[in-house]
Amino acid sequence: MKIAVLGTGGGARAHIAKLTELGHEVHVGTRDPQATLARTEPDMMGTPPFKDFLAEHPGIELRTFADAAARTELVINGIDGHNAVTALSAIADQLSGKTLIDYAVPFIYQHTPEHPWPTPWGVMPKLDPCDTDSLGEQIQRALPATKVVKSFVTQEQTTVVNPQSVAGGDHTMFVAGDHADAKQQTIDLLKSYGWTDILDLGALVCARGMEMHTHLHEAIRFALGGQEFGGHFGIKVVR
Ligand SMILES: NC(=O)c1ccc[n+]([C@@H]2O[C@H](COP(=O)([O-])OP(=O)(O)OC[C@H]3O[C@@H](n4cnc5c(N)ncnc54)[C@H](OP(=O)(O)O)[C@@H]3O)[C@@H](O)[C@H]2O)c1
Repeated sequence: MKIAVLGTGGGARAHIAKLTELGHEVHVGTRDPQATLARTEPDMMGTPPFKDFLAEHPGIELRTFADAAARTELVINGIDGHNAVTALSAIADQLSGKTLIDYAVPFIYQHTPEHPWPTPWGVMPKLDPCDTDSLGEQIQRALPATKVVKSFVTQEQTTVVNPQSVAGGDHTMFVAGDHADAKQQTIDLLKSYGWTDILDLGALVCARGMEMHTHLHEAIRFALGGQEFGGHFGIKVVR
């Protein structure tokens, strides 16, 4: 299948590598391919420059966001959450009629520290929107002709693409969205990643809870990882 991954960060790279391994034709979206390839420094998370990743994963096409979306049938959004609505709105035509799986988190990294935890960002990021709205819903409102599904955000990026690496895969992945066919497409993709316990939370409004869970997720990461801020874990809905 032709799949676009919009984004070049660590989350996007996990999907790019997995989708390529599964035999999909992957088109990676970035703002400016030349500028992205010219970078030589790691990002704020310590993720190496994208050209280093490409050298280890030959055959992947790096394109503009618009070009990557236009060439593919299914699109995964890994654009920084604070800038995702603007960036995706600019390519609404290329996303029209397609499923967009959104895993971005609307974190604001630079803000007055309310929770001064020693995260890699210095303080705990703030969610905006939060509680009464979600990034997933904002994207859906901005792109009414696109079928938005929220998923992935409640699990570590390495675990999302390799669920068997934790507890033999016995943990839970969530999906939420207003379009049944798009959710099924997402579930099919998750099954191909190895997920067996996929809980459909219902309408896209449930993206609020999934995005807000990221605070707990980061707290668990921190608790398990100590000074390394790591941890390799999943969450399971026991029922
Ligand atoms: N398990 C999960 O579901 C999971 C895991 C990791 C991250 N996340 C979330 O997914 C999102 C991506 O995270 P990440 O760590 O992979 O990367 P990131 O550093 O948060 O974002 C990188 C991407 O955002 C784009 N970007 C940054 N500023 C932009 C702007 N002003 N306009 C348009 N695009 C912009 C970058 O474009 P360029 O390519 O042009 O630089 C790059 O592709 C975040 O919201 C993060 O919180 C979720």
